[in-house]
Amino acid sequence: MLREGGLVAFPTETVYGLGANALDARAVARIYEAKQRALNDPLIVHIAAPEQLEQVADLSALSDLQRARLEALAGAFWPGPLTVVVWRKASVPANVSAGLDTLAVRFPSHPIAQALIRYAQCPIAAPSANRFGHVSPTTAQHVLDDLDGRIDLVLDGGATPIGLESTVVNLTTEPPQLLRPGGVTRAQVEAVLGVALAAPVQQNDESAMPAPGMLTRHYAPRARLVLCADEDALLAQHAFLKGQGELVGALLMRDHARAQATIHPHFVLGQTLEEVARNLYAGLRALDAQGVSVILAVRLPEVGVGEAIADRLRRASAR
Ligand code: TXA
Ligand code: MG
Repeated sequence: MLREGGLVAFPTETVYGLGANALDARAVARIYEAKQRALNDPLIVHIAAPEQLEQVADLSALSDLQRARLEALAGAFWPGPLTVVVWRKASVPANVSAGLDTLAVRFPSHPIAQALIRYAQCPIAAPSANRFGHVSPTTAQHVLDDLDGRIDLVLDGGATPIGLESTVVNLTTEPPQLLRPGGVTRAQVEAVLGVALAAPVQQNDESAMPAPGMLTRHYAPRARLVLCADEDALLAQHAFLKGQGELVGALLMRDHARAQATIHPHFVLGQTLEEVARNLYAGLRALDAQGVSVILAVRLPEVGVGEAIADRLRRASAR
């Protein structure tokens, strides 16, 4: 299907992707159509071996220092949840990266993703397999909930193990920028690069979009998301919002016993940050499906994968 220009959704270790042959401009255009994705929002190209990078990226356009950084990151985190932004090769259709001269590339570790790329015999352009702006899918059912009838196939590999999107690092700037926190933590990347990552410029408008995941409102459920400092604040918000006639649901930690007894519906995310990352999107979707108007959640420490969790919660709660 991929070789014939079709759209195939597939699991990765982060979230499900919606794949098309990255070297086929028409197939790539179908991704934007199916997702109703903004045309200025570039895609990530997925490869199945580090050597395949040269098929899509112009590595000669990087400085020696930048190439050394690329090699260090690839050596440390590939295959895995790290995406690097480098220069696009002229032979790669421009719509893959929304007309930008740069290209985001990642080598996923999920065995089904790797097998698919190898069998397709082409690099695969794939955004998360959700409707534009919506919560990313972590199961095949989530993909169908958003895109059934608009895609050709979804490969069901069960729930994705990490649950949040890859970390995106721009290697074309000095110093490199952290465009999106994700499965690999900032500290891990900085330790390998030996340099502090710069923050990207925030982008809230439709102009040139170096990192569309950076749109303030993104990764969003239908319900309004309200972040609370702790369980007490969450219970107080619950009482207040119920008094206002809102239908209130909550994303809770395993040790939030009082909130679990008080708030219905609720969804228990787990206790560790890794569990929260894995279950966050399923929780947002589950509460949305139960028709709540407000979802309450507590703020978590922004260490390790906590930075990516906080980033997604902030974007999901933006109005
Ligand atoms: O974990 C993931 O990365 C998942 C799986 C399927 O691999 N994919 C994913 O794709 O999250 P998507 O399209 O939902 O997010 C792609 C993000 C953009 O939001 C943007 O931040 C960044 O990748 N990106 C892509 N191309 C870029 C470019 N040329 N320059 C800067 N950022 C780019
Ligand atoms: Mg996405």
